[in-house]
Amino acid sequence: MENKDILIKAQEYIKETFLKEGTGHDYYHIERVVINSRKILQTEHADSFLVELAAWLHDLGDHKLHNGVDKSDELISAFLKSLAIEQSIIDRVVKIVSQVSFSKGIRPSSIEAEIVQDADRLDAIGAIGIARCFAYGGSKNRILYSPDAKEIENSSIQHFYDKLFKLKDLMNTESAKLIAAKRHSFMEEYIAEFYREVQ
Ligand code: NI
Repeated sequence: MENKDILIKAQEYIKETFLKEGTGHDYYHIERVVINSRKILQTEHADSFLVELAAWLHDLGDHKLHNGVDKSDELISAFLKSLAIEQSIIDRVVKIVSQVSFSKGIRPSSIEAEIVQDADRLDAIGAIGIARCFAYGGSKNRILYSPDAKEIENSSIQHFYDKLFKLKDLMNTESAKLIAAKRHSFMEEYIAEFYREVQ
């Protein structure tokens, strides 16, 4: 099978699997990560096939979607084997995906993993990141915000400080850093306005 056909199969498989997801990890999140990856690839020397394939598959086995268990290796291997992809490529895709997640805190060991990690993190910030943060918080029954310091710990607003405002400085590639800077300042503006309204 040619590379472009493998990418089409991966897209179709992910579309079927994720279209009904409501936690912010829906199909369009994954599609945006692929689009972000392509943007970053314009200024990086990397294997674009591996980047795009890993981007399509990066959330397939995410622990948040499988009751806390990471099934990435198992599900990615099974899918790629069903397309008769050679083992060395499967191993590389599995490795890239294993290095993408924020919660694992792993430093990517290849430019391909750096790009997919940046592409995923870009979708967590800016206007889209704000929307996803509240959608995810809602799915976990989190409060939006509370003026009470004890309650705010588990609020969606707190998530900006715990994760979203940190992402700009964790980008690997120069082009992602540029996009991240713009999205970051938009979030700062948003949070400033939020506090003006609620206080
Ligand atoms: Ni993702």
